[in-house]
Amino acid sequence: MKQQKKPKETEARPVTPRRGFLNMLWWALGALAIAELIGLVVAFIRPGKKASQKEGYGGLVTCGPTSDFQVNTVTAFQRGHFYLARLKSGGFMALSRKCTHLGCTVIWDEKKSHFECPCHASAFNLAGDVISKPAPRALDYHRIIIENNIVKVDTGKRIKRQRFSDDQVTAV
Ligand code: FES
Repeated sequence: MKQQKKPKETEARPVTPRRGFLNMLWWALGALAIAELIGLVVAFIRPGKKASQKEGYGGLVTCGPTSDFQVNTVTAFQRGHFYLARLKSGGFMALSRKCTHLGCTVIWDEKKSHFECPCHASAFNLAGDVISKPAPRALDYHRIIIENNIVKVDTGKRIKRQRFSDDQVTAV
């Protein structure tokens, strides 16, 4: 005759300090994960600022009043990674500092009145047009907004072009 197995008695194990600490750690990590998830959901649902509303590179950079910039001059804006050029016509262009050949940073040469690339000697005029190759096309530029005579540059997007044309200039 078979003996019937007795059901095992479950022993209540005492909670050791180490086990208690691990339990607390798991609860804390779980709470942190939930908080992070809630944060992600809120960030997804709430509309963020548009690129044009942000300040600094990738957003809107305020350059100053139009009267601060003389005709035929170039002002470097390190924060926005662009040069603000005021052309002979009085209009403005915000030119990318990135050479269109292989991406080196172009430098404004005041004496020669043009941009030069230190890598392979490409040169660009005040409007960013190529005057010396190997650069294959004009410097990229950014959209400019002039409100109440204050010049602002939207660095959220670089606009590519083959060559300069008047419609790229922002008139005062
Ligand atoms: S990267 Fe500017 S000329 Fe080559």
